[in-house]
Amino acid sequence: MADLEGNLDAHNYGLDTPQVTGAFPIKGASSLDFGMKHRLARIFKEDGKTVMLAFDHGYFQGPTSGLERVDLGIVPLAPHVDALMGTRGIFRSVIPANSDNAVVLRASAGPSILKELSNEGIGVDISDAVRIDAAAIAVQVFVGGEYETQSVLNLTQQIDAGMEVGIPVLGVTAVGKELTRDARYLRLATRMIAELGAQIVKTYYCEEDFETVTASCPVPIIMAGGKKLPAKDALTMAYNAISQGASGVDMGRNIFQRLAPIAMVQAVSGVVHDGLNPQQALEKYLDLSKGAQD
Ligand code: R5P
Repeated sequence: MADLEGNLDAHNYGLDTPQVTGAFPIKGASSLDFGMKHRLARIFKEDGKTVMLAFDHGYFQGPTSGLERVDLGIVPLAPHVDALMGTRGIFRSVIPANSDNAVVLRASAGPSILKELSNEGIGVDISDAVRIDAAAIAVQVFVGGEYETQSVLNLTQQIDAGMEVGIPVLGVTAVGKELTRDARYLRLATRMIAELGAQIVKTYYCEEDFETVTASCPVPIIMAGGKKLPAKDALTMAYNAISQGASGVDMGRNIFQRLAPIAMVQAVSGVVHDGLNPQQALEKYLDLSKGAQD
């Protein structure tokens, strides 16, 4: 019912207080539109950081160890992470739609592990990303790879599509076997992806000069996990990446292949959000897992 009296009574105009629009805590995102910022803020929490769980491996390599049953291996981890990165097939068939994680949707596709991996195309129409309520879409970019240009154009095409509907793009640096994961390469790949318009970049950690990779990338970098390492090493890598400017992690095997993945994901979150150092995080893992030796 219309409330004319409510309008007449309105008097709280705060005339001596300038309007405040809070600073936006995500790197390089201040000039984006509200919808895109709102989606980014589902992924990155108030501290500007994120714990994203990657379980999209099946899109090119089938049922990876730890992902044979996503309902058993991943769903129990969801309450402990900010964002879930997977394929639309798994989101629709297995992930409960009432989970409150940000959905990061794998949107490039093509070859299996039996073929040349860089030969990808676009695997998801943007309208389906909207339908599935994606907070971001993920596109692999193979800088230096055989189909480099094709993968770059996959990225730019999805960025254009994302701009139309307000969905950010996570550009994923894919390092081929023949390429060195050093700071020089990672600076090149991450900066290219950001310059082409991706709002988030995922990349591997490198032991030397990783801070130059994060410093020269104008948007948030989140660290990829890679093959399973001993828990202490994985937690140290996450700690180093965050200390050197990463805005979060997007880890898969180092979490879901663990003997105690729920304990590990909480230890990783402790590093990202609570400032735990590697030893404190390892103690948390050992404590929560009752001494898992991996
Ligand atoms: C990159 O190719 C995909 O996003 C991977 O499936 C994912 O990044 C792998 O995560 P991790 O290396 O931590 O298992």
